[in-house]
Amino acid sequence: MPSVRQLFLSHVAQTSEISLGLEIDRAEGIYIYDTNGKKYYDLNSGISVSSLGHRHPYVIKEIKKQLDKHLHTMVYGEHIQNIQVGLAKYLVDLLDPSLNSVYFFMSGTEVIEAAMKLAKRSKERYEIIACKNAYHGSTQGAESLRSDHNYSQAFLPLLPGIKHIEFNKVEQLALITNKTAAVIIEPVQAEAGVNVPLDGYLKKVRARCSKVGALLVLDEIQTGFGRTGHLFAYRKYGIIPDILCLGKAMGGGMPIGAMICDKQLMDAFTKSPSLGHITTFGGHPVSCAAAYGNIKAMIELNIVDSVLEKEKLIKEKLKHPIIKEIRSSGLMMAVELTKRKYLKHVVSKSMELGAIVDYFLFNNRSFRLAPPLIFPKEELIKACALLVEACCYAESRYSN
Ligand SMILES: Cc1ncc(COP(=O)(O)O)c(C=O)c1O
Repeated sequence: MPSVRQLFLSHVAQTSEISLGLEIDRAEGIYIYDTNGKKYYDLNSGISVSSLGHRHPYVIKEIKKQLDKHLHTMVYGEHIQNIQVGLAKYLVDLLDPSLNSVYFFMSGTEVIEAAMKLAKRSKERYEIIACKNAYHGSTQGAESLRSDHNYSQAFLPLLPGIKHIEFNKVEQLALITNKTAAVIIEPVQAEAGVNVPLDGYLKKVRARCSKVGALLVLDEIQTGFGRTGHLFAYRKYGIIPDILCLGKAMGGGMPIGAMICDKQLMDAFTKSPSLGHITTFGGHPVSCAAAYGNIKAMIELNIVDSVLEKEKLIKEKLKHPIIKEIRSSGLMMAVELTKRKYLKHVVSKSMELGAIVDYFLFNNRSFRLAPPLIFPKEELIKACALLVEACCYAESRYSN
């Protein structure tokens, strides 16, 4: 009889030859339990998804309520579903007035695809500018935004008209011109290993886009919903995007994404052609219910208020000679090690000790820390002690 692991390797598509391979039994709050009953601190939130931890009561309650009403009834945009409308209204009331129309999707990459299409359609330009070392998704449009050709060249040809600029290099903003339909940028570059914007950089990007008539598309798929210590990072950095892209933590563990902009801009998808962008499952009622519960909990329980304190606490407690620096924006953190060779040992030893951390796509010296925002401070201190122990182990591997 093959084991579940063997069946996983044989029958579930593998994304790499080195998956983390943790066999999950259940997850609750800040913990994940494997099939041997071992308990782990989830210090990644499933890559910035479980910001309220796992199975938050607000989320579960709304899901259950919706399960008793209806599941899918019709493709997106045709039926008026109370839960979807309620979520859209709740969401836009939290945002600035120009962000007033929501298009719901199932994933982040679909949000980015839609934003690219909307920019091309509304601006009648096709050039899109993205940043080097950004990750916006894996579908062909989003993949075209990736600067690292080691990844994308196996899938050529991708979209024409994509240009890359270096994040935080103000002089490169001159590449944004009146040929540019949109600039797609993360407020904090996640997969580059938490690349935080320099003071005033995003304001300069905003100003340049406005000057040349390009849309500013802000990818808040990782930064959104409190991760940086503000409900949305655009507020932290003092800009308002033309299109806001949300995903990941939005659904409290259920799949949902949202593209949000002014209604007049969104209407470019409504006419000439009509049905300019459609989806079957976008804004699924159960995902909308989960997202509603998630956001409600964030607001009513003031979840975001303690994020900056917890960021500070981690920086105080997580010290070791092989840690070179910790880059962070709230609880979106990259712990950079003095030598690349330590990384795999720190990640695997942490796991063995019961703390799940992970790698970044484009930074091979740092590990990712993105704990649930609800992590109690006493537990964070204990988790940091485990990471320090893992650092000691990694250092000892090379001491002779
Ligand atoms: C910043 C950013 N944008 C877009 C995406 C794509 O989202 P999804 O994986 O939900 O399609 C990701 C996923 O990691 C991301 O980190």
